Amino acid sequence: MQNIEEILSDEISLDPDDWESFRKLGHHMIDDMMDHLRNIRSEPSWRKIPEGTKKFLKGGIPQMPESIAEIYDEFKKHIFPYPSGNMHPRFWAWVQGTGTPFGVLAEMLAATMNPNTAIGEHSAMYVEQQVLDWCKEMLNYPMTSSGILVSGGSMANITALVVARNHQSGRNVRKEGVRAANGRMVLYCSTETHSCIEKAAEVMGIGSDSVRKIGVDENYRIRLTELAAAIESDIAACNTPFCVVGNAGTVNTGAIDPLDDLLSISRKYNLWFHIDGAFGALAKMVPEYKHSLKAIEEADSVAFDLHKWMYMPFEVGCVLIKNAGAHRKAFAVEANYLLNHEGGLAAGPDPMGNYGLELSRGFKALKVWMSLKEHGIQKYASAIRQNIAQAFYLGELIGKEKNLELLTPVSMNVVCFRYRRDGLFTEQLNRLNKEIVMALQERGIASPSSTILGGRYAIRVANTNHRSRKEDFEVLIRETIRIGDGLQIQQKVVPPH
Ligand SMILES: Cc1ncc(COP(=O)(O)O)c(C=O)c1O
Repeated sequence: MQNIEEILSDEISLDPDDWESFRKLGHHMIDDMMDHLRNIRSEPSWRKIPEGTKKFLKGGIPQMPESIAEIYDEFKKHIFPYPSGNMHPRFWAWVQGTGTPFGVLAEMLAATMNPNTAIGEHSAMYVEQQVLDWCKEMLNYPMTSSGILVSGGSMANITALVVARNHQSGRNVRKEGVRAANGRMVLYCSTETHSCIEKAAEVMGIGSDSVRKIGVDENYRIRLTELAAAIESDIAACNTPFCVVGNAGTVNTGAIDPLDDLLSISRKYNLWFHIDGAFGALAKMVPEYKHSLKAIEEADSVAFDLHKWMYMPFEVGCVLIKNAGAHRKAFAVEANYLLNHEGGLAAGPDPMGNYGLELSRGFKALKVWMSLKEHGIQKYASAIRQNIAQAFYLGELIGKEKNLELLTPVSMNVVCFRYRRDGLFTEQLNRLNKEIVMALQERGIASPSSTILGGRYAIRVANTNHRSRKEDFEVLIRETIRIGDGLQIQQKVVPPH
């Protein structure tokens, strides 16, 4: 390198020159943030992004410094007013948690400390260990299990399935690559299972052809006889069944698979039993769901999200694995630059990189730690129970309306329904209901999402919202009917043959 002296004669840093005005802006931001959260109910549930903003957000990379006050003004003009709306009391789309004000502050503190929660002797490493222990307590999962906080349910599921694959293969998969002792390694789950399981199979080298999607009953729960037959058939074909994935709350309808039976079948065939409980696992804390979710305690692994039904700010998911040794064996690395020492900064707990795919990781645990202390676990259990009761209430409201129809019985916090009108065919109803969903969203009334159940378009409400109140569901029903009644739909359609 040349000109070292010259470069170093005027050293720079990215810290502010004027800390006082920086602090003032920070206080102003906090005021705006808290006002926003406090008044969220008076906001529309969603707003269209103006073309001008989209254009603004295509500008090239800044070359020179801009004033932080102006940057903040741009944020307030172009970014802040157009959120997805999941903080809003009438947001029930996909499965997204709603965040909390204290969670916001925790994120700021986490960013202030800015630790890399990968390795080392520093507080964040211990906070994560404590949070993982609390997660085990929440589910009454063995304290001897291992776990890791990840970005979400997809990562939690794939982390568990990598451990399952390696442990069940009977080979050194890390060294030799994926090869079953016999035929293909096969995973079983219901047709209602979230797409991340299939994606996991693809990236793990198992291949989606090795995911046996077992049919479901009228309540969208896996058919056990079909599952047993599929396992038998794979054994007969000299394949290697290795894992059963059960759902504690399917994404479409919130159905809970018969987990006890899945556990028995897994044990009978010596298969890894994994539970995708992205949101539903946490309903285990609700007395009415304790029984149907009890098998979580026995599962080999369980994946769930804290950013869904624990209302934590995105992102944070968790995976727990009963066989801590198998977990570590699947990911542990030895590298000269990652040595643990007896003292100093490189002491500390087992590096988290030994338990997952990532090395560098943020301080996800802090928002969980602070939020759990803020409210206590009992209040979270009550909020989850309230969401379920609200879903049943919504189901009752739908049942009372002649122009609305439940498409599946409510079993937890997901409600799938549609607007109906005499004389319309499925295809017309599908179009009509899609129009209703878009109108509800675009008019800023409410944000349900949608799914297709048996070829029928469903308006889908997944309630993981601690801000929703009874009257919000009444608004949804009233407005769905009003919009539906007002929509013209072409009556002349050739009936399906
Ligand atoms: C049942 C289920 N599994 C997995 C996922 C994926 O979770 P994430 O979006 O946090 O990756 C979801 C997301 O909604 C889900 O509902």
